[in-house]
Amino acid sequence: MTDLLSLPARTLPLLIFFLVASFVSNGQEIPSEPAAISAGEALFNNNCRACHRVQEKLIGPPLAGVTERAPSIDWIISFVKNSAALIASGDDYAVALFNEYNKTQMTAFSTFSDEDVLNILAYVEAEAAKEPEVAAAPADGGPTGGGEGGVPATYLNLILLGMVVILVLLLIILIFLVSAVKRFLDQKDLTPEQREVVRAPFTMGSIMRSRGFIFIVVFVVAALGFKAVINGLYSIGIQQGYAPAQPIAFSHKLHAGQFQIDCNYCHTGVMTSKNANIPSANICMNCHNQIKQGTLTGEAEIAKIIQAYETNTPIEWVRVHNLPDLAYFNHAQHVNVGGVECQTCHGPIETMDVVRQHSLLTMGWCIDCHRTTELNTRGNAYYDRLVELHGQASEGAMKVMDNGGLDCSKCHY
Ligand code: HEC
Ligand code: HEC
Ligand code: HEC
Ligand code: HEC
Ligand code: HEC
Ligand code: HEC
Repeated sequence: MTDLLSLPARTLPLLIFFLVASFVSNGQEIPSEPAAISAGEALFNNNCRACHRVQEKLIGPPLAGVTERAPSIDWIISFVKNSAALIASGDDYAVALFNEYNKTQMTAFSTFSDEDVLNILAYVEAEAAKEPEVAAAPADGGPTGGGEGGVPATYLNLILLGMVVILVLLLIILIFLVSAVKRFLDQKDLTPEQREVVRAPFTMGSIMRSRGFIFIVVFVVAALGFKAVINGLYSIGIQQGYAPAQPIAFSHKLHAGQFQIDCNYCHTGVMTSKNANIPSANICMNCHNQIKQGTLTGEAEIAKIIQAYETNTPIEWVRVHNLPDLAYFNHAQHVNVGGVECQTCHGPIETMDVVRQHSLLTMGWCIDCHRTTELNTRGNAYYDRLVELHGQASEGAMKVMDNGGLDCSKCHY
């Protein structure tokens, strides 16, 4: 009898489980095709990476396992589309999460379709499954890199030391030879004039007064002076190393390095336009309307962002890189079409507290790269016919210069 009574009690949780499970699968399925995963990866990188990682906690929670953790997939979809509405509706899970993350508001992605969110979840699941190997790689990559760097330097020192020893030996041999020749000549029958030459004291004074010595000194001084003048002329207008102080102590090392915020998140133009764009205070406020305290600078620096935002005055950043108006440079062409990394031109920005001009930015610098860099033609149908024609005309890969990368009019208005 007791057994029969407890039966419903045991089956009830199971029943609820099946109900929920069927509800979830009726609602939405997470796709697993590669196309969906790669679409999800692009969406994740462009929209979510600024605050989320798959495995680590960043500004928001790690997304691995969110499908098991969150109430349902439909819940996730509505949270992503408008988390504020869900929190305001008093949803228990949403409110608890919001409080746990210090009331940091997640951006609303109201233009996303259900499918977009499902693709992102597909990417997250695929990534969560393979993450551990990736994380292990840098750990053993580090020390070997450092070791390799040390070897050439010690070799160089050894070579230098060897050369000094050889030079000293040569000097000793020469001194022996001179005194041997002198002794040999002393034994000969020489006229008084010849004897005077042989006996002439070998002093510093006589060397310095000799014509050969004066010629060499004048030549060396003139050559060094000439080189200094030429160098001076060449460096006119070159700003390499320029690192002005900025109105707000914004650090790329912290944002792009430590927090790994994608460059595109702030420099929104790089993929689509000529200019990379400097972010407005609105973009900073996505995070800083919640994060009001910096570990290093306290409230002082972040308060300036908030003030600029509230008074609607633009922050007056000091421009670092600046080509003269006669030259045309396009970011999308290089970053998006050409696949050139930001760091190739701008150096390790993600390690800089203050941005510094890394490259020369001269015409020669542009041209050198166009001469040596292969055109990124793979998967770009625009180039198919061109590559074919180039193959017929000459051997070797197609360089940027083979596509007009050296034409004056491409870079000059
Ligand atoms: C500006 C930062 C920010 C961005 C951008 C962002 N999120 Fe969030 N996200 C958060 C924060 C913070 C939370 C924690 C909840 C809260 O505070 O509202 C969160 C929570 C979540 C949760 C719930 C996690 C859980 O543990 O249940 C999901 C799912 C989520 N985000 C998905 C996304 C997706 C997908 C994107 C990109 C389309 C995205 N987020 C972009 C900050 C962000
Ligand atoms: C959180 C926003 C943010 C992120 C992420 C970010 N930047 Fe910036 N970046 C800025 C701001 C603000 C400035 C202007 C202030 C300054 O120069 O430090 C700037 C300036 C620059 C400049 C100098 C512009 C000039 O005046 O010539 C370069 C180059 C640059 N960023 C490259 C990068 C690269 C490369 C990345 C990715 C590794 C990146 N940034 C990530 C906000 C950001
Ligand atoms: C092929 C070299 C090259 C690459 C690659 C490159 N930049 Fe630049 N960048 C430049 C040059 C040159 C300028 C100066 C442009 C000017 O003055 O017209 C510049 C200027 C900038 C500026 C100042 C604002 C502006 O738009 O002029 C920012 C910010 C910037 N770059 C960010 C980036 C980011 C982020 C990336 C990677 C996504 C990147 N750059 C990739 C060469 C490059
Ligand atoms: C995606 C989120 C995010 C965005 C966008 C963002 N920040 Fe930050 N910022 C942070 C985080 C996280 C910290 C670290 C707070 C701490 O020190 O604990 C921080 C710290 C700072 C600090 C204080 C540094 C210190 O340690 O004292 C300054 C100043 C700052 N940010 C400026 C900016 C500016 C200017 C922008 C816009 C160009 C910006 N931030 C955009 C997340 C962001
Ligand atoms: C690090 C290498 C690199 C540097 C430095 C560089 N470029 Fe380029 N550039 C490229 C590549 C790669 C392409 C080809 C992009 C593509 O596939 O169309 C390109 C293409 C171009 C084009 C289009 C040419 C065409 O075929 O239509 C112009 C214009 C250009 N670059 C201007 C400049 C200027 C101006 C500078 C210097 C301020 C510069 N580049 C510096 C790599 C570089
Ligand atoms: C890949 C891009 C590129 C190509 C191709 C190119 N230039 Fe330039 N040129 C530049 C850049 C960038 C500058 C500015 C460099 C600086 O400020 O130091 C410049 C500067 C100059 C200047 C100096 C102007 C001044 O006031 O200092 C002259 C002149 C010039 N270019 C002529 C030419 C001629 C002629 C050609 C064709 C044979 C040519 N350029 C092809 C990028 C290019």
